[in-house]
Amino acid sequence: MEDSGQLDELMECRLDSGRKAVEPCTIVIFGASGDLTARKLIPALFHLHVEKVLPTPFRIVGFARREKTDESWRAELREAMGKFSRTKIFDEATWEAFAANVSYCRGDLTEADAYQRLEHQLSGFGNPQLRHNLLFYLAISPSLFGAVAEHLHHANLLLREELADRWQRIVVEKPFGTDWPSAEKLNHELTQYAHEKQIYRIDHYLGKETVQNILMFRFSNAVFEQLWNRQSVDHVQITVSEKLGVGSRGGYYEESGAMRDMVQNHLLQVLSLIAMEPPVSLAAEDIRDEKVKLLKSLRPIAPGNVASQVVRGQYFAGQLDGEQRPGYRQEEKVKADSNTETFVAMKLFIDNWRWSGVPFFLRTGKNLPLSASEVRVQFRPTPHVLFAAHCGSSLDPNAITLRLQPNEGIYLRFNGKVPGTSTQVRPVRMHFSYDSEFGAYTPEAYERLLLEAISGDATLFIRRDEVETAWQFVDPIRQGWEGKPLTNREFYSAGTWGPVAAEDLLSKSGHEWRNPQPVS
Ligand code: BG6
Repeated sequence: MEDSGQLDELMECRLDSGRKAVEPCTIVIFGASGDLTARKLIPALFHLHVEKVLPTPFRIVGFARREKTDESWRAELREAMGKFSRTKIFDEATWEAFAANVSYCRGDLTEADAYQRLEHQLSGFGNPQLRHNLLFYLAISPSLFGAVAEHLHHANLLLREELADRWQRIVVEKPFGTDWPSAEKLNHELTQYAHEKQIYRIDHYLGKETVQNILMFRFSNAVFEQLWNRQSVDHVQITVSEKLGVGSRGGYYEESGAMRDMVQNHLLQVLSLIAMEPPVSLAAEDIRDEKVKLLKSLRPIAPGNVASQVVRGQYFAGQLDGEQRPGYRQEEKVKADSNTETFVAMKLFIDNWRWSGVPFFLRTGKNLPLSASEVRVQFRPTPHVLFAAHCGSSLDPNAITLRLQPNEGIYLRFNGKVPGTSTQVRPVRMHFSYDSEFGAYTPEAYERLLLEAISGDATLFIRRDEVETAWQFVDPIRQGWEGKPLTNREFYSAGTWGPVAAEDLLSKSGHEWRNPQPVS
């Protein structure tokens, strides 16, 4: 008899076999001395090298102000790998082979001479593809994006046109602006020297396996897609909770708050993948068109309506896992009377045919009891006859939960008879776990994203209109908070699921938050 496991593998369908072969190129990292480079970028590039998916040949040039030699930078990176690499089994020879492609260029981002030095260094690479196929990774303050693009352009390293034998791309980190006008300004500065097609805006959530799986789950399974609409869905909850407080990032967080740090990007991205219409093809622009359409269908929340639809919160001191956590106002570089939100919960509506009238509840916060990201699609209850007539609200309606992290998986919750002589109904779960199905290997988001940028596929990056539309939705909410100090109902103790006001937001319409559960 045929083994069913074997059959499953035979049914695998590769969608990236048509992916363009990666071409030899140089990755120039601006902000090479920063945290992101050591924690994420170099480990990701190293793993891609181990997987043998980087182009042959490739080069990495770190650009930063501090005085370093190639050797000293490599030694620093090697040390950081020990701390941050996802694989602890380390083969020194493989590292040496990787590090041989890594060099350093000292320079001030605002000085033209530095770019001449960079140009000189690149021209020393000999191979024309290493000199002309350039991926510029801007792990720097957004206030410098424009200046860097301009200098690169004047140094002849960034051309705003696509030639057949060369390409240049710019990868930018979030935050992309602090509101719509600033995002527009950044876009304007960048697009003077680079075409939109050359700009890759990162939202690392899109690099996560489980976030990518949302599209496959929805559009390769007829059984679920039939239910994905206002006829079947009662409401949707998206929770991104974090156990960590702001820690040493107080300075940054004071300027951003949870709305800018998490909602404008990660939560709205997850929402758009969950709720968008099927794209006409899997091409990057078709998928991004649908995401933008979805963002444009969000019913705006005017500053005057914020109080009834959006709750902000801030943590005060409390216990988490038996550990005492300081309040936000006591964190380093945070003002003693700060009103910055460390928690946001919101109720929003999507004004389109599919979702008309279905509430979407989003929430995110720091210092919550559990780190977990999940989307829960709560279906409508059964008609009020038979079991529902007897059990009332204790008959739990069906739900599908997409657990994005950790313990990645998908759960379907439905009701079943408790075995025995009594007649008892209770919820049971059907559970798909990535780990048990595919094993523990999950590449880091940055690995996938860097590889996509190198191969020129922009699907997992944020397009200009997407980032601007997201800000247009978020800005009026922040305006609604301006000048209004937090009230008592908006504070929550570290280690709890947010302020009371967040519970009220749902209970007003007869709903309740379903908190992610720890999975043993
Ligand atoms: C970042 C935010 O973009 O995402 C952080 O700036 C947040 O505040 C982080 O902690 C969460 O990412 P992840 O991958 O840990 O869920």
